[in-house]
Amino acid sequence: MSDPLPLFEFSKFAGIHDPRFHIGTATAAFQIEGSGHTQGRAASIWDQFHGAGHSIAGDGCAHLQHWRDDLKLVKELGFDSYRLSLSWPRLINDHDGHVAAAGVAFYRQLLQQLQQLELRAVVTLYHWDLPEYWQQQGGWCNRQTAIAFAQYAKMVAETFGDLIDTIYTINEPWVVAMLGHRSGEHAPGIQDEQAAFHCAHHLLLAHGLAVNEIRAHCSAKVGIVLNGGPCDPVTISSNDQRAAQYAYQEGTELFASPLFNGNYPELVLARHQQHLPAGWQQDLLQIQQPLDRLGLNYYCRYRISEQHGEQPGCAPLSTMGWEQSALGLYRWLTKLQRQHPLPPIEITENGIALEETLTEAGLRDPQRWHYICEHLKAVDAAICDGIDLRGYFVWTLMDNFEWGHGYSQTFGIVHVDRNTMARTPKASALALQASLKQRQQNSD
Ligand code: NOJ
Repeated sequence: MSDPLPLFEFSKFAGIHDPRFHIGTATAAFQIEGSGHTQGRAASIWDQFHGAGHSIAGDGCAHLQHWRDDLKLVKELGFDSYRLSLSWPRLINDHDGHVAAAGVAFYRQLLQQLQQLELRAVVTLYHWDLPEYWQQQGGWCNRQTAIAFAQYAKMVAETFGDLIDTIYTINEPWVVAMLGHRSGEHAPGIQDEQAAFHCAHHLLLAHGLAVNEIRAHCSAKVGIVLNGGPCDPVTISSNDQRAAQYAYQEGTELFASPLFNGNYPELVLARHQQHLPAGWQQDLLQIQQPLDRLGLNYYCRYRISEQHGEQPGCAPLSTMGWEQSALGLYRWLTKLQRQHPLPPIEITENGIALEETLTEAGLRDPQRWHYICEHLKAVDAAICDGIDLRGYFVWTLMDNFEWGHGYSQTFGIVHVDRNTMARTPKASALALQASLKQRQQNSD
């Protein structure tokens, strides 16, 4: 057996050593649950997203069968929080809002077990699995979907609110709008500039409407999850600098500005105002709700050229081709903090896809462990600089369905055998487990 990976010494980092700083792991329903719509779930847009070049979800991680053991594993690994998403099409059957009893029973049991295990439940309402019956009505390009989302949020707040610590409305609206509706890499596979901005606006509106419903029906904390990172010009030419500035506005500010400052960012408006739905100005107040939390998903920084758009990152890269830059996380946090009045922040996702082989000695992933440790240090540095960070979630608990990439990209700290569905913690999971144990002992 090869040596275990070195411990992360939390005690050297006061901000994240503090037991009030939460450490968890995150998953999403469609990536792990499996069993398609055969077990009482209505179809989602990802069930439909087959065909040339697109991957099929298959069984996810058969979490529907293994969820009890999966939650126990989260506990055993030493986490205090678990971020999951609820599947809208598993909970609501149709346009008329009929609630699916089996879906309610499933999530109730799951959330109850989290409570028994004393794991803090952090729930995302929309992690990309739009019910297909709403897509048939135009999906996020139709304002009606935002209203339906608020009804779904209300149902969740009423039904499960007592079991949830924090509700995040939408996960990564940028990805939904731009990969789902501009590049078409994600479901529903639309390639249309106007669709992308209609979608972006309706996601923001959906969030704003849902916040009101959640607050009216339960006392969970409420927030939204944004993705992004700093965008750097590839050269110091003014063209590249302008392009990088634009890329940042479209990547982060398209959502952060309306959420926290009440308007779309200037450069994006100059280019895309005509792509927003008519009357968008009237929704800005509804969108800008006071929030209890901002969730941030961070993976890499971006290099931008005016001529060629986004450029490959600098080595070392992940198998997704993403640059590993913990400094980028620190820079993104400090920039966001300077530009907006923000609520307390959680890093709701951070992790890395790597190529691995299972050996006799287990699954060694020192590069992943290094990545996690460096990002934890960046979080601590940001806390020291006065940023109100409350939690950090590793993406992800186990290897799963990575959207357009199928099962080829493995982000998990736990390996999943695709044939047997057996779960095996990788060396990074074991190192984190030992480090969290030491953190716990030191703070007792
Ligand atoms: C962000 C998404 O929320 C998650 O679903 C995805 O698997 C990771 N990024 C990695 O791409």
